[in-house]
Amino acid sequence: MKFLAAAPKAIREAAEIIRDGGLVAFPTETVYGLGADALSSRAVAKIFEVKNRPFFDPIIVHVESLEALEKLTCISGTQDSILHAKVKKLAEKFWPGPLTLVLPKKEIVPDIVTAGLSTVAIRMPSHPVALRLIAEAGRPIAAPSANPFGNLSPTTAEHVRNQIGGEIDMILDGGPCPVGIESTVLDLSSPEPVVLRPGGLPIEAIEKLLGKVEIASDAGSSRPRAPGLLTRHYSPRTPLVILGKRVTPRREENAGLLAFQAPIEGPFRKVEILSDRGDLREAAARFFACLHELDKAGLAIIYAEPVPEIGLGQAIMNRLRKAAGS
Ligand code: TXA
Ligand code: MG
Repeated sequence: MKFLAAAPKAIREAAEIIRDGGLVAFPTETVYGLGADALSSRAVAKIFEVKNRPFFDPIIVHVESLEALEKLTCISGTQDSILHAKVKKLAEKFWPGPLTLVLPKKEIVPDIVTAGLSTVAIRMPSHPVALRLIAEAGRPIAAPSANPFGNLSPTTAEHVRNQIGGEIDMILDGGPCPVGIESTVLDLSSPEPVVLRPGGLPIEAIEKLLGKVEIASDAGSSRPRAPGLLTRHYSPRTPLVILGKRVTPRREENAGLLAFQAPIEGPFRKVEILSDRGDLREAAARFFACLHELDKAGLAIIYAEPVPEIGLGQAIMNRLRKAAGS
């Protein structure tokens, strides 16, 4: 496995690996992705193998132009003019950026990418390394987060190396991911838009453009609409519990704390603070890195303080609940 700083020459080499059907982990503004040629079933199959990902969980396709979007999805034509207008509005405002759109797919998208669904999830990432890699590869790149299925997402190249480094062809190191939480997934394939996963683009921003949108209830189904909505997900190996009125740390435990703004009283052996300024953007950017640190510390339990559920706080609380399996 090659571990290279994301300089132009390394990106060109990575693009070649993608074109040859290999796997490259690369930075996006949200989390590191594990990329393969989205139009090659064989290449995408390797992603599932390395991640140990169930085949019913579809993968996001990353593009660097709106022309690519037209090639992969059915959004044009008079019949779909309303959809086309919606997509155009969203893409103009939020792309490139942490928004994924679920749209009716064209035949060219292999079934393995979409888990046999008639829709495909597309996003245009804003990270310059990701954009350049897609452009140099000359094809769309299918990429889930570069971690084993269900584990904590990687927000640094080191996180990727530690989790799956031995099983892939290259890691492009572009430093820590600035947003730190996966993209917001918005389903536009039915008449009313539905948020399938809160993420790096606050739902309030989408609602400013489209009006009130529905948020899919992600309670407990074993085959939800976006399989990333499985109850236990984004999990550290250490058990995690969210603090609340009825949940307080027990004294004898070998416990760690994920605090929002400041440490709270308690018998904690290790404490990570998301943002001492109480800034939800900073908290999101640090979220997975803090959990990776706590998970490495050999604790018996991690207590997590809830964060305010506005803006990016919604995505953080969504991840925390998944990590807690609740
Ligand atoms: O920020 C991100 O979205 C990152 C970076 C690498 O782009 N990617 C990411 O991928 O988080 P992944 O595979 O970890 O999560 C993709 C989510 C899953 O919950 C999946 O079920 C959902 O998107 N998804 C993908 N295609 C879908 C489709 N056609 N319909 C409904 N949900 C879909
Ligand atoms: Mg993931």
